[in-house]
Amino acid sequence: MAPDDTNDPDLAEAVDRQRRIWSKEAKRYDRQMAFWERVLFGDARAWVCSQASGDVLEVAIGTGRDLPFYPPDIRLTGLDLSPEMLAIAERVATHLERTVALDEGDAHHLPYPDESFDTVVCVFSLCNITDIRTAIIEMHRVLRPGGHLLLADHVISTNAIARGAQRAFEKLTIRLAGDHQTRRPFPIVTDTGFTIDRHQRDKLGIVERIAAHKAQ
Ligand SMILES: C[S@@+](CC[C@H](N)C(=O)[O-])C[C@H]1O[C@@H](n2cnc3c(N)ncnc32)[C@H](O)[C@@H]1O
Repeated sequence: MAPDDTNDPDLAEAVDRQRRIWSKEAKRYDRQMAFWERVLFGDARAWVCSQASGDVLEVAIGTGRDLPFYPPDIRLTGLDLSPEMLAIAERVATHLERTVALDEGDAHHLPYPDESFDTVVCVFSLCNITDIRTAIIEMHRVLRPGGHLLLADHVISTNAIARGAQRAFEKLTIRLAGDHQTRRPFPIVTDTGFTIDRHQRDKLGIVERIAAHKAQ
């Protein structure tokens, strides 16, 4: 079952702050994200979602920007901290005539039993979730043996000049939006026990995609 960290007031406070930030951001999010998708993220959503199969959980689904990219035959559950982001995802799902179970919840304590999904997806959100090690351990917990983890995010660049710019930019983005520019989930994914199947870095190493699986 999900870990009980009701005893961690720092994490609870940080998560509350993220919820407030995203509730305010929800109306502007799609316009801003469309810009970053054009200049930086390319076909990352299609790359991730096209590999999803079976019972799929998208952690931090936001406004549902991945919905058009999933195969039609999956059974999708989407979780997010922000009811305002989820309300937009709900409208997108209705518009696309797509059935999605949308749950308000926290990536640090996924409200699902062990081994309940074939695929877990998380896109452009590990930059934002407070404790990504706990979140990735949770993703591992809810995956069935042999299940697939599919990630895409912006991470610390392989280029020294870009890394300097990211460190400077991050001072602002963490303060304003809890958004980290210099994280890299890859080593945590392997530490957690996943085996990497495919892995790609683009745009000076800033955009990283990972397809991995849990042991059988
Ligand atoms: C940058 S947005 C990305 C949304 C979506 N994945 C996308 O690709 O457009 C980050 C999302 O992470 C969610 N989030 C942040 N911390 C979270 C947490 N602890 N649990 C669940 N969702 C969280 C926010 O509410 C927000 O919707």
